[in-house]
Amino acid sequence: MEVVTRIPELKARLAKARQAERRIGFVPTMGYLHEGHLSLMRRAKAENDLVVASIFVNPIQFGPQEDFASYPRDLARDSRMAEQAGVDILFVPAVEEMYSRGHENLLTSVEVSRVSQGLCGASRPGHFRGVATVVTKFFHIVQPDTAYFGQKDAQQVVVIRRMVEDLNLDVRVIAAPIVREADGLAMSSRNVYLNPAERQAALVLSRSLAQAESLLRGGERNGAAIARAVRGIILQEPLASIDYIAVVNPDDLAELQTIETSVLVALAVRIGKTRLIDNLLWEE
Ligand code: PAF
Repeated sequence: MEVVTRIPELKARLAKARQAERRIGFVPTMGYLHEGHLSLMRRAKAENDLVVASIFVNPIQFGPQEDFASYPRDLARDSRMAEQAGVDILFVPAVEEMYSRGHENLLTSVEVSRVSQGLCGASRPGHFRGVATVVTKFFHIVQPDTAYFGQKDAQQVVVIRRMVEDLNLDVRVIAAPIVREADGLAMSSRNVYLNPAERQAALVLSRSLAQAESLLRGGERNGAAIARAVRGIILQEPLASIDYIAVVNPDDLAELQTIETSVLVALAVRIGKTRLIDNLLWEE
């Protein structure tokens, strides 16, 4: 595996690959890799001739009170894991490489309106602008045939799909299923923040979604009833405080009163100081 830190070097390397008609798969990450990321990398390997992954903790998608500085980082460990998962080129740019005039001086950004506004966008203003902007930059630098994202960040997937469609970007977007710990907790780099009591309490997210799934299987089609059931379970956990519970259309994130063929039940819950997200994508 090659580790590349400079944009011109990566572009030159990938131009050769494209000339040789090699299909390029791309997995953007913020590092501190876990099985969720590795599943994307393995899939990219199976479906492409060359896999590029990036590790970049993107400052412009963090709010001023958020964890940009403390976000977990371990490049040595990540490099080993990425290599084992089949990554050919690991792109690890410095902040100055991605934002040559400083990220505070960026004058151009990509705003995907409406689908960026509710759910996580409501409590993280500007977050999806930061995501859409950096992903657009990566897509221009890497020019992948296919890019892989985790379904755990369901709203991010909707934002990126919409951006790709609206801007005619020439990349296929794949959303791969959520990878969970054996006890159901969705894998996340931020799980490392949880102390043992919080780690236990965090199971309330997947438990509440399991209840939503069982209601849907049993024929419940009322969005508010699903949301009520999920809320009832989370409220039983003293360490949990709810940011949002959304029962929405998986394509445009519009709230659903009545569920027809598919639904996204998405939640963000604080466990102690750690904000966790999880979701259920249900299709009849
Ligand atoms: O999902 C993430 O890790 C990030 O939002 C992404 C897509 C790498 C952009 O910084």
